[in-house]
Amino acid sequence: MEPMPGKEEKEKFYNLSLVERHEWLQKSHHLDANTVSILSGENGLKIEQADHMIENVIGIFGLPLGIAHNFIVNGKEVLVPMVIEEPSVVASASFMAKLARPSGGFFAHTSAPEMIAQIQVIALDEIHSARLKILEAKQDLMEIAGKVDPVLSKYGGGPRDIEVRLFKDSPIGPFLVVHLIFDVRDAMGANAVNTAAETLAPEIENLTGGKVHLRILSNLADRRLARARVTILKENLAFGDFNAEEVRDGIIAAWAFSSVDPYRAATHNKGIMNAIDPIVIATGNDWRAVEAGAHAYAARSGKYTSLTTWAKDKDGNLVGTIEMPMAVGIVGGATRVHPAAKASLILMKIETASQLAEIIVSAGLAQNLAALRALSTEGIQRGHMSLHARQVAITAGADGDEIARLSAQLAQEKNVRVERAQEILAEWRK
Ligand code: MEV
Repeated sequence: MEPMPGKEEKEKFYNLSLVERHEWLQKSHHLDANTVSILSGENGLKIEQADHMIENVIGIFGLPLGIAHNFIVNGKEVLVPMVIEEPSVVASASFMAKLARPSGGFFAHTSAPEMIAQIQVIALDEIHSARLKILEAKQDLMEIAGKVDPVLSKYGGGPRDIEVRLFKDSPIGPFLVVHLIFDVRDAMGANAVNTAAETLAPEIENLTGGKVHLRILSNLADRRLARARVTILKENLAFGDFNAEEVRDGIIAAWAFSSVDPYRAATHNKGIMNAIDPIVIATGNDWRAVEAGAHAYAARSGKYTSLTTWAKDKDGNLVGTIEMPMAVGIVGGATRVHPAAKASLILMKIETASQLAEIIVSAGLAQNLAALRALSTEGIQRGHMSLHARQVAITAGADGDEIARLSAQLAQEKNVRVERAQEILAEWRK
């Protein structure tokens, strides 16, 4: 892949026409013409395919697909596809990824891809002995659960453990919950673990004499974590009128706010999800599941808090970390049906679900940095304003060089409206 490290290069991509961007992907990133035409939307999801995905289909809803540049994750360059309607997310993720390059980019890893299936057992005479009966039969139960998905077993997946949790005091009295821990390899895993939970239900009823009620995966996938860390060298922190210490300490103080106050943490984590959801969507994964997991994990201590940390190291550099559940797959479901989801995986050269999770959390960390850096210095509106001005200039009919000139003037006048843009254009073109 042709590196695009410098500002010049990045701005070049930004200023290319759509056709030129597609050509760049083909030429420099060695993407085949078909993959590019799928990503371009020209050859994307067909209505007939959509009709098989959900019920009562009447059409296909489009969203912009952008590419974040400059990302190095675990030593590898990666172009990151993002499906999102909000301006400035793709640009700011790319810019933060660029600031991370001198220290090697993002270093990420995942825990084993283990999902949790929950089996609720009610109407028990006595929960403590029921718990022991289940634990005594653990090996047998795991063997039964191991037979539900031969494909997963072939790839080394399957049940890993069984845990039993007691709820002594609930609105319906005591009950217990069996957790089946299931390694789902490269799948998101919902189907496999739900089937396994349903298969174990009669066995558990026989063992305990109770009644199995719910059998469903937990979206608090805290056995399937993705983590990333990044260092921004001190010399890359200063910008405009802000010196490096001010920027660094401002970011740390902004993070400290989110670490203690749930009102701020919700917004802080929303900013992280600004980069995470777009990649989850681009790859055909279940973004509601990832959202649910993220926020439940952020509240795991009983108090909702930040998914990231920011601090300074001994040399005064800024160091950031992120840790959160990441239940994404690269096989099965929409990841294999939606042509753009497949093409997004090709674009990123993804071979395992773990690699995908590592890229996703790296982008989340980058996006969080972008928000904290802007909020603790010039504020968020300035950056938004120039991007918004560009969109308004294009909407008003600006062409070629006019786009940059007109958006600069609109931003300077702080009057970013299509009517004003049209007036200026008419004046210039007289
Ligand atoms: C806006 O979409 C996201 C931010 O509010 C995130 C944050 O406040 O950290 C800017």
